[in-house]
Formats: sequence, structure tokens, C-alpha cells
Amino acid sequence: MKPKLSTSTDPRGENLHPGELAARIAAREAWIGVVGLGSVGLPLSRALLDAGHRVVGIDTDPERNRSLLAGITPVAHLGPRFARELIEHERFELGETRLLDVALIAVPTPLDARGQPDLGCVRAAARAMARRVRPGGLIVLESTSHPGTTRQIVGEELRACGRVPGGDVWLAASPEREDPGRQNARTATIPKLVGGTCESSARLAEALYTSFVETVHLVESAEVAEAAKLFENVFRAVNIALVNELSEVLRAQGLDPHRVLAAAATKPFGFMPFQPGPGTGGQCIPVDPCYYTHAARAVGVPAELVERAIAINRARPQLVVERLAAWLDTALDTAHGVQHAGTNAGTSSLAGRRIGVLGVAYKPEVDGISESPGVEILRQLRARGATVHYSDPWVHELPELGLESVPVTQPCDAWILVTEHSGFDYAALARSGVPLLDTRGAFARRGFSSPLIQGL
Ligand SMILES: NC(=O)c1ccc[n+]([C@@H]2O[C@H](COP(=O)([O-])OP(=O)(O)OC[C@H]3O[C@@H](n4cnc5c(N)ncnc54)[C@H](O)[C@@H]3O)[C@@H](O)[C@H]2O)c1
Repeated sequence: MKPKLSTSTDPRGENLHPGELAARIAAREAWIGVVGLGSVGLPLSRALLDAGHRVVGIDTDPERNRSLLAGITPVAHLGPRFARELIEHERFELGETRLLDVALIAVPTPLDARGQPDLGCVRAAARAMARRVRPGGLIVLESTSHPGTTRQIVGEELRACGRVPGGDVWLAASPEREDPGRQNARTATIPKLVGGTCESSARLAEALYTSFVETVHLVESAEVAEAAKLFENVFRAVNIALVNELSEVLRAQGLDPHRVLAAAATKPFGFMPFQPGPGTGGQCIPVDPCYYTHAARAVGVPAELVERAIAINRARPQLVVERLAAWLDTALDTAHGVQHAGTNAGTSSLAGRRIGVLGVAYKPEVDGISESPGVEILRQLRARGATVHYSDPWVHELPELGLESVPVTQPCDAWILVTEHSGFDYAALARSGVPLLDTRGAFARRGFSSPLIQGL
């Protein structure tokens, strides 16, 4: 394959008038940089290309660039052909030098070691784009962050590089709502929020997004767009914490939480079903609420409910391990046909046990493991002396734990189902005679029940 590295070193050029930029976008003549070629940036690039735009992909990770140039898709759920089709697309370039009309920043917004927002990638990308975007060009922040990030933080970096937001560069926010692995939604069909830092920025960003996304909602400001996106994920985190707490109450009452939630979900209005589980992974649910609580503290209004939701969700992997410890001896007796009076709940030691985790990806049908409860459960099992392994059709190795995925036929004392991948053979697992702690209610949902399958 011919490498497609852009090498153009165009001079800065004259300040583009907003009307000219809008015309370049409409004519598909604008060079649009996508900064950060990950779970968001890659499908975003594809959507722009599908609408006829010219795209320059920019990523600071040399390994990612090498992988793309070699035609290897670095994000598995996009499919094996994705990288090759992108790289070979006649309107796509991978490169560091071409002057851009527009830059869309889709870099990570993680937490630092103290659990605080780490906007280092956003700042670095903003500085880089201050040098790459032509006078009169447009910069849009797609990354999720708290309100004010675009205007204040990106703006500050641009000004430090001699650029003037609202003067020689337009600046807007349009937080990405991508949901990796979801089959019925893609970048072009997920409604997009757009908010500017001034009227011209808003109008230009709206013109850009309406050129490749079906539904665009222009909101009053960049801050409204940023806050709305953060709230969407806070909403999910709080509801998941709520059902996690509810499931403990119901369990103590002798009720099956999944049955109760299925019953509640028959109401056609005023209710949205969320499921209890082993903890939350990825960026949206475990990380984004921390941006919200940080921003709330900064304005002196502690977000107590959300702080509590974060704590409830974070405690779930430990609860899973404790549930297994409480059940394992009884389960193994049952598996070996040993009858015993009463229960020995709470007495099992995990030391020396061989425990497997089914699914370490943070959600079904993706290969991402960031903040994955499966990985945390493996760590905690090991800390309690268990010998661990995992099986995951999407995640072939976990170098940080020195593990590779094994077949589900691997002998062990128990499996813990953490990620409900469709590729697992639930029937075979249910028949295997190995105790299964099912943190998702996946076996019951498929009609499998036995004394060797225990809900969380
Ligand atoms: N993944 C999702 O499901 C999802 C959904 C909606 C929003 N978001 C948000 O989108 C943003 C990006 O998330 P993602 O999942 O695509 O991240 P990712 O980790 O998959 O990809 C980010 C890419 O950015 C690159 N990068 C880092 N710093 C850079 C820089 N200064 N310049 C150029 N490239 C740089 C990395 O090398 C990486 O390839 C985050 O703010 C995230 O919260 C993610």
C-alpha cells in the first residue's frame, strides 16, 4: 500500500472570511483535521469522508499511525477493513504538516493520578492546532469535558500561541456522543449538539456538522453543549448506581432484581431501565461524572448525589469478589455432589483457587478495557491469592496482568461473567458443571438456571 503521509507546507495565507470558509466547507474544499484517531476520531473521519470532505488525520501516537498505515484497524469494533479503507481513501491523508481550514479535536480527557480531570491532551492538541489552522479557520472541541473547557482552556492555549478566538480563529464545542459497538447508531445519525464561543463560530460549526450529520442542534453556547454532554453521562452513572443499590436491597428482601426491573420496565412512560452490574468501565460512565463533580466543587456547589453514585459504582468489583468468596465453597460442594446442612456462606478462601473471568472488555462487542471492571476483578482476585485467567473473544491479551485470553473450556473452580459478549456459548457454560457467578443476569435471561449459576 502506498503510504499517505501529507507533506504540504503551505504558508499561513490570508485571513479567511467566515463566508469563504462556509463556502469551502459546502464545496468540500476545506481541509478538515481530525485530531486524535481513536474510538471517536476514526468514525468521525469516516463520516466526513462519506460526505465528500477532505480529511487529515492527526495522532501523536506513532504506533497508532504505523498501524493505520499498515491497514491494521486499531479499534476492533470498527471492523478489520476500516483502516485500509480509510488510508486508501483518495480524500484522506495522515499527516502533521498541512495547513487546515478546520480542526476537530477528539483527544482523551482522562483523570490524573489523583482522580482529577487531566486536560493535558486537550491543551497539547489546542497548541498544535494554533499552529496548524489557517487564519480565519475553525477549531471545534469534540472531547468530553466540563463547561468552559472550550472557551477558557482551549482559548487560553490558542491565545498563548498568538491566536485570537473570535478574531483570527473561530472556536466551538460539539461533544461527541459515539457509542462504540452500537449497531443502530453511527456518527452521521447520532444527533449532534453544537455551541459556539461567539455567533460566527456557532454558525460555522453548524454549517460544518449539517454537511455530514443528519440532525444538528445549535445551542446557545459552547458551555451549554459541554454541560449537556456531561449531564447525559452523569444521568447514566446515577441511574446505574441507583439500580446497583436497589439490587442489594432487593436481594436482602429475597427478590431477584432483574425480575423486578423487567416488571418495572413494562411501564410505557416515566421509566427507563438500567441494569445492576459488576461496575462501570470505559470513559463515559466512570470518568465523565468526575469532570462534573470537579466542576461543581469549583463553583462551590458539591454534587453530593453524583459523588455517592461514583462511589457506589466503584465499589462493585470488590462486591463481586466478596460475593464469590461467600458462595464458592457451597458452589463447589454442589458441583461435587456433596450435601451439607446449612450454609457456609462467607467462609470461602480464594487463595489457591483457579478463578476465570468471562469478559474483560468494558462493554459487549468492543475491545476497549479502560476502567474495565473485569480487569479490576482479576486484580482483586489475585490480591486474595487466587490463580486467575480470563476469556474474551475481543481482548486477546492483558499485558499489564501478564495474561492471554483462554478458551472457556479452561479448567477452573469458578467463572465470573463480567461482560455479556454475544460470542460466549452460554448453553455450554451452563452445562459445564463449573460454578458461574453471573453479574449481568445473562444466564437467567437466556433461560438457564441451576444451583451452579448464581446472580450477583
Ligand atoms: N470512546 C467513546 O465511546 C466516547 C464517546 C463519546 C465521547 N468520547 C470522548 O471523546 C474523547 C476521545 O475519546 P476516544 O475514546 O476516542 O479516545 P481514544 O483513547 O480511543 O483515542 C484518542 C486518540 O487521541 C490521540 N491523542 C492523544 N493526545 C493527542 C494529541 N495531543 N494530538 C493528537 N492525538 C492525540 C491518542 O493517541 C489516541 O489515538 C474523550 O474526551 C472521550 O471522553 C468518547
